[in-house]
Amino acid sequence: MAETDTFDLIVIGAGPSGYVAAIRAAQLGMRVACIEKDSSLGGTCLNVGCIPSKALLDSSEHFALAQHRFAAHGIKFKDLELDLPVMMARKDQVVSTLTRGVAGLFKKNKIEHVMGLAKITAPGKVQAGQRTLTGNRILIATGSAPIELPSMPFDGKQIVSSTEALALPRVPEKLLIIGAGVIGLELGSVWKRLGSKVSYIEFLDRCAPNMDCEMTGLLQRSLEKQGLKFQFKTGAQGAKIENGKVTVAWKRDSETGNETADVVLVAVGRKPYTQNLGLKEAGVNMDAKGFVAVNSHYETNIPGIYAIGDVIGGLMLAHKAEDEGVAAVELMSGKAGHVNYNAVANVVYTDPELASVGKSEEELKAAGVNYKIGKFPFAANGRAKAMDSVEGQVKILADAATDRLLGMHILGPRASDIITEGAVAIEFGASSEDIARSVHAHPTLPEAIKEAAMAVEKRAIHF
Ligand code: NAI
Repeated sequence: MAETDTFDLIVIGAGPSGYVAAIRAAQLGMRVACIEKDSSLGGTCLNVGCIPSKALLDSSEHFALAQHRFAAHGIKFKDLELDLPVMMARKDQVVSTLTRGVAGLFKKNKIEHVMGLAKITAPGKVQAGQRTLTGNRILIATGSAPIELPSMPFDGKQIVSSTEALALPRVPEKLLIIGAGVIGLELGSVWKRLGSKVSYIEFLDRCAPNMDCEMTGLLQRSLEKQGLKFQFKTGAQGAKIENGKVTVAWKRDSETGNETADVVLVAVGRKPYTQNLGLKEAGVNMDAKGFVAVNSHYETNIPGIYAIGDVIGGLMLAHKAEDEGVAAVELMSGKAGHVNYNAVANVVYTDPELASVGKSEEELKAAGVNYKIGKFPFAANGRAKAMDSVEGQVKILADAATDRLLGMHILGPRASDIITEGAVAIEFGASSEDIARSVHAHPTLPEAIKEAAMAVEKRAIHF
C-alpha cells in the first residue's frame, strides 16, 4: 500500500549539500525527510569523490615516499611491494565508515531517510518509489555527474570516468587522461605513484586552468618532474578500442595524431544531475547549461522549490555545497544565512598541493584592480625543510591602496590545510599587515604565509 507522509522540508539527495541541509533544518525544528537513490548516504563526495580519492592519494603517497624519499631519512627496507586490493579495501573502509556516520547523524537528528529515486510530481509533492511525500518545501540537492564525450562514451572498463578510476582492478601500464583539471591531476597522481605511465590531453594551454597562472605553471613543472606528461592546446577527438588497447585521436591546431593507452580517463568536467526529477513538468527554470536557476535565497522560480550545491552551478565543491545547505535552510527559517563565495578555497590535492582563495592575478588584472604581491618559498621555511618537502611558495595579493587581502595562493606541503588562514582572513576583511603582525607558531608551515604577508611590504625576514 502506498504511504503518504507530510514534512516541513523534503530534501532530494544526501550528498554534502543535502545531508547538511537536512541536519541544519532538523536543528531548527523542522520535520525533515531526505530522499536518496543510492544505497549509501553521502553522495559523490563520500562515495566516489573527495573521500575515496583522498584515501588513495594518501596511500599512494606513502608508497611513493617509501620508494623515493625514505632512504634520505635513513629508513631502509627490502622488497617494497604494492598490494592494490588491500589499498582499495582500506579506501572502501574509509568510505563506509563515513557514510554510516551520516546515517547515524540522520538518526540522531530524527531525519527520515527515504530510499528511492525522487520525482517532483507537483509543488510540495514528491514521489519516491512507493511513497508519496508532501511538504511545505522541497530542496533539490541532486549534485552532478561526469560529462561524457559523445566521441568516446564510457564503457566503465577502458574508457572510464572518475568513479571507475577510483577502483581500477590493476595498475594500468599506460593511463591517458582527457582533461588536466582537478580530477585528472589528482587521479593521474594516484596512478603515476602506483606505477602507471600517465599523460594528458588538454584543450587549454595549462593545467588546473581556473587557478592563478603563475601557481599552475609551478605545479605543472613539479608534476612534469614526477613524470606526468602534458599535451596542451590539444583536443580529444574520439577513441577506438582494439586488441585490448584504447587509441585516442587528437587534434592540435592543424596537426592530428593518435595516442594509445590501456585505460583512458575522461575528466572534462561535471554536469548538473537533474535526470527524471520532474523539473520541466513542474515548471522549474534552468539555465542554458542545465543548472537549476535560483535567487539569493536558493529558491527557484516555483515558490517552495529550492536548490543548492552542484546542481545550481558555480564552484563544484563539497564545502561550498555544505555552506549553501546551511544558508538555504537558515534563510527558510528567517535567519540571515549567507555564503561568501569569495572566501571559498579551492584545492588540488597533488604533491605539492595547490590551494587558493580569493582572486588570482589574472582576475584582478581583468577587473582593473591595483594590487601588491608578497611571495615566500617553502625552501626557506624551517618546517618544510625538516619535512623534506620544500617545493612551492605562498603568494599573497593585497589591494595596493587599502592593503586588504584579495587573494592567497599556496603551492606546497599541506596547502589544503593551511589555506584556511586565507579564507578566514578574507572573511574577516583582514589586511596583509594583519596577517604579517599575527604571531605564527614556530616551526610551522603557516609561517610561510606570515612571511609572504610581510613580503607585501618587502620586509620578509627569512628570504
Ligand atoms: P575541470 O573543469 O576541473 O577540468 C576539465 C578539463 O578538461 C578542463 O581543463 C578542460 O579544458 C578540459 N577539456 C574539456 N574537454 C576536453 C577535450 N575534448 N579534450 C581535451 N581537454 C578537454 O573538471 P574535472 O577535473 O572533471 O572536475 C569536475 C569538477 O569536480 C570540478 O568542477 C571540480 O571543482 C570538482 N572536483 C573538485 C575536487 C577538489 O576540490 N579537490 C576534486 C575533484 C573534483
